[in-house]
Amino acid sequence: MSVLVTGGTGFIGSHTVVELLAKRYNVIILDNLSNSCRETVDRIEQIAGRAPQFVEGDIRDKSLIVNLLQDEPIEAVIHFAGLKAVGESVQKPLEYYKNNVYGTICLLEAMCAGGCKNMVFSSSATVYGSENRPPFNEAMPDGVTTNPYGTTKLTIERILRELYISDKDWSISLLRYFNPIGAHKSGLIGERPSGTPNNLMPYVSQVAAKKLKKLSIFGKDFDTADGTGVRDYIHVVDLAKGHIHALERVLGNSGLDVFNLGTGKGCSVLELVNTFQQVTGQKVPYSFEKRREGDIAECYADTSLAKEVLGWQAELGLEDMCADAWRWESRE
Ligand code: NAD
Ligand code: UFG
Repeated sequence: MSVLVTGGTGFIGSHTVVELLAKRYNVIILDNLSNSCRETVDRIEQIAGRAPQFVEGDIRDKSLIVNLLQDEPIEAVIHFAGLKAVGESVQKPLEYYKNNVYGTICLLEAMCAGGCKNMVFSSSATVYGSENRPPFNEAMPDGVTTNPYGTTKLTIERILRELYISDKDWSISLLRYFNPIGAHKSGLIGERPSGTPNNLMPYVSQVAAKKLKKLSIFGKDFDTADGTGVRDYIHVVDLAKGHIHALERVLGNSGLDVFNLGTGKGCSVLELVNTFQQVTGQKVPYSFEKRREGDIAECYADTSLAKEVLGWQAELGLEDMCADAWRWESRE
């Protein structure tokens, strides 16, 4: 069975392709390499012992996708491709809407034309906004997004819901990721942020590797146990495995489902930094700075729906996440 993976050379996509190949799916990656590199395909092959097909191209290129769908029967699309930097989205909103929202519309139109109506989509916990209270569950109303990136995710969720209402042949899974971190155990694939990282784990790893001087911890006065922000960090390999479960459900029924993919456990910035130091033996100097605009105090998932319906739950702990992130950072 063949699956098209948009954004398949990216951080989460590459780990998911490894899991798909292990489950004997044929994989066709479509990626424009705007935030990843071609070498990842070889590394995926090294891990999986089997190569995915790779097509360099853009999700906005409808005729390319229609041709791909006509060349061989493709049963489903796992759609990761998109821009994801919150701060950059505030500076370049049009690029974000064009790439993420318009790009998804092009992809959906091509899928309609090619007769493939099964999709797994990368959404985000950011759609819960700041009005809902954690643990976030899928029945909560949509939150108010605070940046263009978040709005693109919420908009795409709505487009997919409305598409399903208009045509019940679609089978769609909206996966709301919490905070994916870590890397594959082999150290061959991982997160490759361009420029200075915005997210916590890559920043911590680069400080440990002495590429950056020190970590700024944004806020020590949140209403949390130690005053620093709490997030639900999930190992990227666990997250990748969640996609296989969602894909199997999508292939089995038509319908539209929403699932949180997280661990259900909140972890503070200080807990993550301390665990990283213990596990790796590396020092991570830090200072406390003022809160980062738009950050909420706590964000963690209610994971019961994914467990009940998909039969999936995260297995790896914070120690694994830190050890694997460091192995990747120190091999790069
Ligand atoms: P990533 O940047 O590593 O991967 C995205 C991939 O998509 C990259 O390889 C990039 O080259 C490609 N791409 C971007 N625009 C494209 C286009 N128009 N056509 C073809 N390819 C294109 O990001 P990631 O962390 O792997 O995230 C994957 C998805 O998950 C994204 O949609 C992201 O918004 C979502 N997500 C990520 C996180 C996170 O913390 N990493 C959290 C929630 C949701
Ligand atoms: N943090 C620091 N210093 C840093 C970076 C982050 O203290 O240099 C703190 C933040 O204030 C926050 C926590 O570390 O408390 C996590 O921050 P990240 O930037 O790693 O992640 P966010 O929770 O802000 O956002 C991430 C993705 C979003 C996604 C969201 C929910 O970047 O795209 O998770 O999935 F929407």
